[in-house]
Amino acid sequence: VSKAVTKYGAQKGRKENKEKTQYDLILEDAVEFGEAEVVGGNFKAPTLEEGPKAESSDEDEKDMNVPKAIRDERVFKKLKKEADNLQKDRKSLPVYLYKAPLLEAVRDYQVLIIVGETGSGKTTQIPQYLHEVGYSKIGKIGCTQPRRVAAMSVAARVAKEYGCKVGHEVGYNIRFEDCTTDRTIIEYMTDGMLLRSFLNEPDMASYSVMMIDEAHERTLHTDVLFGLVKDVARFRQDLKLIISSATLDAEKFSEYFDNAPIFNVPGRRFPVSIHYTKAPEANYLDACVITVLQIHLTQGPGDVLVFFTGQQEIEEAMDLLSFKTRGMGTTMGELLVLPIYANLPTDMQAKIFEATPPGARKVVLATNIAETSITIDNIVFVIDPGFCKQNSFNPRTGMESLIVVPCSKASANQRAGRAGRVKPGKCFRLFTKWSYEHELDDDNAPEIQRSNLGHVVLMLKSIGIDDLLHFDFMDPPPPETLIKALEQLYALSALNDQGDLTKLGRRMAEFPMDPQQSKSLIQADKYKCVDEVVTICSMLGVDGAIFYRPKDKGLHADNARKNFHKPGGDHMTMLHVYKQWEETGFSLNWCMENYLQNRSLKRARDIREQLVDMLEKVEIEHSSNVNDVDGQRKSILSGFFYNTARLRKDGSYVTVKHPHTVEIHPTSSLFGQQPRLVCYHELVLTTKEFMRGCIEVKPEWLLEVAPHFYQSKDLDGFKGKMPKGQGAASGGFGAAK
Ligand code: CDP
Ligand code: MG
Repeated sequence: VSKAVTKYGAQKGRKENKEKTQYDLILEDAVEFGEAEVVGGNFKAPTLEEGPKAESSDEDEKDMNVPKAIRDERVFKKLKKEADNLQKDRKSLPVYLYKAPLLEAVRDYQVLIIVGETGSGKTTQIPQYLHEVGYSKIGKIGCTQPRRVAAMSVAARVAKEYGCKVGHEVGYNIRFEDCTTDRTIIEYMTDGMLLRSFLNEPDMASYSVMMIDEAHERTLHTDVLFGLVKDVARFRQDLKLIISSATLDAEKFSEYFDNAPIFNVPGRRFPVSIHYTKAPEANYLDACVITVLQIHLTQGPGDVLVFFTGQQEIEEAMDLLSFKTRGMGTTMGELLVLPIYANLPTDMQAKIFEATPPGARKVVLATNIAETSITIDNIVFVIDPGFCKQNSFNPRTGMESLIVVPCSKASANQRAGRAGRVKPGKCFRLFTKWSYEHELDDDNAPEIQRSNLGHVVLMLKSIGIDDLLHFDFMDPPPPETLIKALEQLYALSALNDQGDLTKLGRRMAEFPMDPQQSKSLIQADKYKCVDEVVTICSMLGVDGAIFYRPKDKGLHADNARKNFHKPGGDHMTMLHVYKQWEETGFSLNWCMENYLQNRSLKRARDIREQLVDMLEKVEIEHSSNVNDVDGQRKSILSGFFYNTARLRKDGSYVTVKHPHTVEIHPTSSLFGQQPRLVCYHELVLTTKEFMRGCIEVKPEWLLEVAPHFYQSKDLDGFKGKMPKGQGAASGGFGAAK
């Protein structure tokens, strides 16, 4: 690439002998890649058939003069017609060739392991095949996905192929969003949702088949599900289990499921040449953007897929790309930059699957989700910085954080494979070959071995599984992690000193939230501020950002955010934002004026509605007291008392129980205020270990809300010393509003 770039650059330079153009700037900092190495095997002649074009006929579907029955009939016909158009695509997928033997294998064996490369059609086709031969008459066909986006987008695709609206025959079920009806026969769901459904349906009675998909990802919930479904299959002989994986080392799954047979779906894959950088890249975000442009300037047709670690990185890269390509449009083909990450709104997600217009090039900036969970057609170039975001948990201190780490060799190879679906492709790795060979681990460690298990243990205890040390885990978590989870649940009073579930614990398990948050919510009953804490939990339940910060209006956005600051801390700010939005009648304009993400707020409102509905079942009175900031904070602290840090003389913070240096995140309303004691929502590790989502609390509250956990001596030399007025009443930011 770099050679070609230089040549192109030279020509360009000759033509325009004036100031440096954006091209020159790109070429100046061109990333240098070393020799190619080709991977990927069974090369078959390309079958590049034109996909059928869906005829869009926006007839008078919405015309209210037409009777409903006729309108429905038209919609139905239109959906069926679109589905018919997709039949050819369906038949071109590798798995189609194996439809008959696959269905025979399912018929003959209760548990079947299916292995097939990403994009071979496992997720979208197998549930439909099962439906076609009648399994849906016995019960629903379920299919789990580790990620929400995958569950939603796959359901959308399958609904289209089936010819129905999402939520009718084909639907999805994810946390806080159940898009299924009683006519749903194919249900995609997150692994977390299936786990939760064991609370109500421990024998999975409503399903005839359950497909545990993306098993190779070994997410925490999938690993726990393995143990549960294996058990159910023993006493429900009529239940069919399919474990599907995109990687070849399926023996382990087979062994675990009592030597279940492995069914291989041979993939169709073109060779992918791998290019490494000659030297390590100091800033991979920059390097990614430059490589995208190098590809665009020098390579033939084909779309580009770039792997980032999260939403924030993706947004930064989008900004940088649009900056660098300014004024470039006229000479070069159009560059369509599309993001895909977990919290992207559905309509935006759908965009990445749309065909690229002729002459343009699509660049998809994705998180790990594009590694195996979703397949984007037409990708020919992959850019892999070699990182991913992983949660890590320290069982000694009980602290968990999300950190960016080098990905594994297995991940890097999966990523490269994405480039070879339609024709021979190229993968640009933004790290050196040496680093690949010597620094990357072979495989990702299963998530269960590096996660806080509090939530899962509470779940299992509620399902009635008491002996966790002997639970049939495929790879058992470290015993100290299990013990820590039990300790934490005990400190939260969810378990008694015998390790049995308490009434409080049972109530906590009802909420689809972390035990800490559930505890906060239940304790709010005591402080009579349930409504406020429900709102706070809903705002925390939105995984995307609430505030919006466009680069070019950064200062305005920061000021807008500061105007919402409330004394007490970030949770109060969240509450305030929601209340204000509610007062404007949920106004979109108001959101835009105040740099708030309307979408996130709407999601908070949805979550809020559902949490409010759950209150009755858990026998919580819907009390409200907006002005009792202390009560609200005590409620939060009742769940999050583990997460406290005190101010040191030098201005830094140290966690109270297991001394560890942390800092208040710069986006916190408490940043710069230096309260003596704070309780934080989570730790994030970037340049430092930051506490995100902070409230100021009083030492004596700790003794009040967590007597199991804190003794007076923990707070020695500290208790009572907080000057009056440092608490709820002070706070400069809030005064502005
Ligand atoms: O599960 P597996 O990776 O084997 O493949 P799949 O997800 O069933 O995808 C098969 C094909 O369906 C892809 O190659 C895409 O063409 C299409 N697909 C889509 O168009 N939209 C989606 N959301 C998912 C799949
Ligand atoms: Mg799949």
